[in-house]
Amino acid sequence: MKFLTRWGNVLIFGGVIAWGLLLVSCTMVGERTLFMPPQIPGAKFAGTKECRECHTQIFSSFQEATHARMMAPGEHAKNVGCESCHGPGSQHIQSGGAAATIINPRQSPSQCFQCHLDKRGEFSLPHAHPVIAGKVSCGDCHNPHAGDAVIGGGTSRASANETCLKCHSQQRGPFVFEHEALRENCTTCHNPHGTVNDKMLKARNQTLCLQCHYQQQTVAGQLLIGGRDHAPFVQRGVCWTAGCHEAVHGSHVSSSLRF
Ligand code: HEC
Ligand code: HEC
Ligand code: HEC
Ligand code: HEC
Ligand code: HEC
Ligand code: HEC
Ligand code: HEC
Repeated sequence: MKFLTRWGNVLIFGGVIAWGLLLVSCTMVGERTLFMPPQIPGAKFAGTKECRECHTQIFSSFQEATHARMMAPGEHAKNVGCESCHGPGSQHIQSGGAAATIINPRQSPSQCFQCHLDKRGEFSLPHAHPVIAGKVSCGDCHNPHAGDAVIGGGTSRASANETCLKCHSQQRGPFVFEHEALRENCTTCHNPHGTVNDKMLKARNQTLCLQCHYQQQTVAGQLLIGGRDHAPFVQRGVCWTAGCHEAVHGSHVSSSLRF
């Protein structure tokens, strides 16, 4: 059951997020420190409904958003509301929305890391989008307020790639010779949060390509990939080494994606 296992990932935090919000001051359950609601000195939690009056559109679209749908099972069921990301809103509301009275995660992902602890680790890997440096925001690829939190997720694959292509126009076709792998998803080969490999690749060697391309060793000592003996080529380095399949995203001149 996908839902349950995925909950398992966050349960340590997520399952008790509901408690966190219910008993805002209580961030200790048993021996463990759990989700720490954002703090704004002097402010109190007002509740999601209080945001409706002034942020009507966000309030209504939020009802169907991933983060609004998340419920802890059983008696602790509770929405993850606006203030779980924005912090307690009492001062913000009383002041009619004055500057610097509420947290905007666009400026810092730290609030997201409270629940998605593993993401801090991913973004700290040697090759990652510069989210911690503040040059790219979680909100560039994720929609906290409406629909699926992964922009383009859950619908068509092409629309998921659109998120990447708005910043990476070089990878946008149409190419004369397309690589069908790109019709799938950029995340087949890249982890946009970060990896240990150059260019945020999910694997640093041919394993990346052999996810889809079949490799066959013959008795004659050939290494067939795509019907061609690759034994002499694989010595040269990775499949996308200069002079090999360099144009891995698509080519205007080479059907074998060489340049
Ligand atoms: C009395 C009206 C009012 C209420 C109620 C209100 N806001 Fe606001 N809020 C504003 C105004 C005005 C702004 C500034 C203009 C804008 O961005 O819309 C603002 C801006 C914001 C911003 C952006 C701040 C920034 O620095 O970029 C966030 C986030 C926000 N509100 C969240 C909330 C949340 C969460 C609630 C409920 C707890 C809430 N607001 C309730 C009026 C209100
Ligand atoms: C999962 C975390 C999360 C939740 C829950 C959440 N927000 Fe936001 N909110 C964000 C992020 C992230 C941004 C900055 C988006 C960006 O990068 O442009 C933001 C920005 C805003 C802004 C600034 C204007 C804008 O559209 O960028 C307002 C106002 C706001 N949120 C109100 C709300 C209200 C009202 C709710 C509840 C109905 C809510 N938020 C729930 C994460 C969240
Ligand atoms: C109060 C805790 C909490 C906060 C704060 C929070 N999230 Fe989440 N988020 C969750 C939970 C719980 C899930 C559901 C996990 C699951 O189903 O695996 C989730 C799911 C997601 C997903 C996956 C959606 C999907 O369809 O797979 C994304 C993306 C996401 N959050 C991004 C963010 C971003 C970006 C922020 C900060 C703006 C944020 N979250 C803040 C608790 C939180
Ligand atoms: C450059 C784009 C990009 C940025 C920036 C980004 N994400 Fe993601 N994220 C994605 C994509 C794409 C997926 C879907 C992965 C897939 O389909 O394999 C995803 C999936 C997720 C998921 C659900 C699956 C998982 O890996 O657990 C969570 C949670 C999440 N992101 C949280 C965050 C948080 C928190 C931030 C900011 C600290 C963030 N992301 C920044 C692109 C991004
Ligand atoms: C908001 C703009 C933005 C979005 C959206 C975005 N990126 Fe990026 N991307 C960047 C920036 C900025 C860098 C860092 C460039 C640098 O360090 O020179 C980067 C770097 C990269 C790199 C490494 C490039 C290198 O030369 O090392 C890869 C690969 C990448 N992004 C893939 C993706 C994928 C896949 C997605 C979609 C899931 C995506 N990006 C979405 C802005 C974006
Ligand atoms: C079949 C695997 C694969 C897929 C799918 C894929 N990439 Fe790549 N990408 C690579 C490889 C391999 C490299 C490293 C190329 C190099 O180092 O010469 C790379 C490098 C990059 C770079 C760094 C700049 C460059 O050309 O070296 C960016 C940016 C990038 N990819 C974005 C994307 C985007 C956006 C998508 C989706 C539209 C995507 N990639 C889909 C394999 C892939
Ligand atoms: C998601 C699956 C997938 C991945 C991953 C993938 N490919 Fe492909 N690739 C395809 C499909 C499908 C085709 C078109 C059918 C074919 O020729 O096998 C193709 C075609 C090609 C071709 C053109 C073959 C010809 O006709 O000459 C080359 C070259 C190629 N891929 C290289 C790579 C390299 C290099 C990598 C790793 C960076 C890679 N592929 C990763 C699916 C994939």
